[in-house]
Amino acid sequence: MQSLSQIPVEHLSPEEAAAELAFLATEIARHDALYHGKDQPEISDADYDALKRRNEAVERQFPDLVSADSPSRRVGAAPLPTFAPVTHARPMLSLDNTFSDEDVADFIASVYRYLGRLPDDSIAFTAEPKIDGLSMSIRYENGRLVNGATRGDGTTGENVTANILTISEIPKTLPAGVPEVVEVRGEVYMAKSDFQALNAQMEAEGKQTYVNPRNTAAGSLRQLDAKVTAARKLRFFAYAWGEMSAMPADTQHGMIECFRAWGFPVNPLTRRLSRVEDVLGHYREIGLKRPDLDYDIDGVVYKVDDLELQRRLGFRSRSPRWATAHKFPAEQAVTRLTHIDIQVGRTGALTPVARLEPVTVGGVVVENATLHNEDYIRGLGNSGEPIREGRDIRIGDMVIVQRAGDVIPQIVDIIPEKRPNEAVPYEFPRTCPVCGSHAVREVNEKTGKVDAVRRCTGGFVCRAQAVEHLKHFVSRNAFDIEGFGTKQVDFFFETDDPSIQIRTAPDIFTLERRQQTALAKLENREGFGRTSVRKLFEAINSRRSIALNRFIFALGIRHVGETTAKLLARAYGTYQSFAEAMEAAAPQHGDAWNELNAVEGIGEVVATSIVEFYKEPRNRDVISRLLQEVRPEAAEKPQVSGSPVVGKTVVFTGSLERMSRDEAKARAESLGAKVAGSVSKKTDIVVAGPGAGSKLDKARELGIQTMDEDEWLALIGGDGA
Ligand code: IVH
Repeated sequence: MQSLSQIPVEHLSPEEAAAELAFLATEIARHDALYHGKDQPEISDADYDALKRRNEAVERQFPDLVSADSPSRRVGAAPLPTFAPVTHARPMLSLDNTFSDEDVADFIASVYRYLGRLPDDSIAFTAEPKIDGLSMSIRYENGRLVNGATRGDGTTGENVTANILTISEIPKTLPAGVPEVVEVRGEVYMAKSDFQALNAQMEAEGKQTYVNPRNTAAGSLRQLDAKVTAARKLRFFAYAWGEMSAMPADTQHGMIECFRAWGFPVNPLTRRLSRVEDVLGHYREIGLKRPDLDYDIDGVVYKVDDLELQRRLGFRSRSPRWATAHKFPAEQAVTRLTHIDIQVGRTGALTPVARLEPVTVGGVVVENATLHNEDYIRGLGNSGEPIREGRDIRIGDMVIVQRAGDVIPQIVDIIPEKRPNEAVPYEFPRTCPVCGSHAVREVNEKTGKVDAVRRCTGGFVCRAQAVEHLKHFVSRNAFDIEGFGTKQVDFFFETDDPSIQIRTAPDIFTLERRQQTALAKLENREGFGRTSVRKLFEAINSRRSIALNRFIFALGIRHVGETTAKLLARAYGTYQSFAEAMEAAAPQHGDAWNELNAVEGIGEVVATSIVEFYKEPRNRDVISRLLQEVRPEAAEKPQVSGSPVVGKTVVFTGSLERMSRDEAKARAESLGAKVAGSVSKKTDIVVAGPGAGSKLDKARELGIQTMDEDEWLALIGGDGA
């Protein structure tokens, strides 16, 4: 049977149209919630746009059926309940989309028509990249940042001021002479390079990687704890405004110039053009540059430049008549999947990689693409729900490769009609392709959920895990041994000569001694010279004393990344007390276990992982051999003697004028205080700067001591310097 969605709009009966609109409303609302609420979209932007277009087409044909809460009248999703709501002084609207050259010509013609003018190329438009991030409205009063809000549903957004304050590209104060009230709007985004670095780190820590920069940026901004936002590098482009007590310019590009002069990043690819051909030419030029830009864009926005004309053109229900977004087609291509390889990571995760017949996707040749995990290959999503309508992926299939925001290409679908007759369902290995140990999918005891990742159980026996482990050990944020990179790890691991072989981390530190007694010294081997060998040993020896947090991070305990390692180092002070505590915590109850769980930032998953790690005799053996070679330094204890705030929980809210929030936090922590992101009964002091909102209200409600920045500085006895 043909589904309703396949029937051309003009052939729909009114009953069918009503049913189709109801279906589309539910479907669009669901995808809105996934995209905005959970930052976990299930479908591509192109598919989402197709749903919206279908909805609009049906509504055009059956105007009587348009309901008050139709998706065509809504912008984005309702705000999340966790942040304080902010009512925008001016609504934050969305843009109409155009998809073809004709649509763009129509848009330009409609502007002339509306203004009652002949289309004589006399109206200028700005053309600027459409940044694929999150729109943000940042309010300044008397030159000071007082509030930052997400778009939310366009009328009411979320107050994310604390998080916005962590973005260094956003000025906290504006130069003298700016209007009293200024609301700068623009896009918060994560650079592709920062996203890649973050994912590399997540991978090194054996954690789930992020899907794309946009969702990662959204997730980071929606952290109630601004610490987490601060740890992610977010960026900003200014391109619009909300309330302004006075207008500093009378054109769109003039406004952008003002923003630039006030210290905001503005997009360098913005042009001012008049003729349709020039506008389209710029669109194509940006399209060509797209793969090389360090941020994701999904189209080009055209805006009437003259603000007086913008005012006359005004708005439709949810978008301006003076602007449109010319979307790029998704960067996709079709090619054949020739093979599936399984890579084994440090934590034993088996990751399927698709080998492809080379194909160009958005200007880049793609030969490999991720297949995520075995469920993904089988056509199942994260919760076991069908994806790609349940289609599986087989070797020999013609597949659709997409380079989305994520720079790692992925296989989004297959072309069922092109499946070779002999193609068989892919059987994901049940054993590790490297060491042959069983590979299992763990079940989370608490949730009963089966992990999406299958892992090799070989541990140290598995060469792949051992090699990846060593690579992690010597990496930049761990032992950071200069001249000891992945190539050296591979060489020393693979060599058959026991006098120079390195299989576990302690072997690195015994290398110099061992090779001295060997017949063929390292410096006489191919690829090594006297100087390079001396330098290598110097680099190794310089790490015999190492910061405790680096030491803990280098152990490669699953879920213990750099941040967690720092928390542990601070909490336990010395390696000895840390190790003793972890062994004492093994029964997962009692004082040592409770103490570990009480370390801020350590949850049960992390705690369990550390305890499990220490239960393994092989790990304890490697560590004890390592400790004969290297000495982890004691972590710096906070200077707390005589501190008036030791043990107190402090919340900073509003903007600080004498120091950055990071500085304020570091200072408070060094005095033995705990800095929290939200106000609760446990809070002792709330330090409120200008723009403080709900946190201050809550503190007063709970009768918590509040003070301004100067009083805080007086209390801790410093001037903030
Ligand atoms: S102008 C009233 N300019 O696209 C019009 N929006 O689909 C205000 N966006 O909500 C928006 N780059 O999040 C504008 N150069 C740009 C943009 C841009 C990205 C986003 C913004 C907006 C969405 C609309």
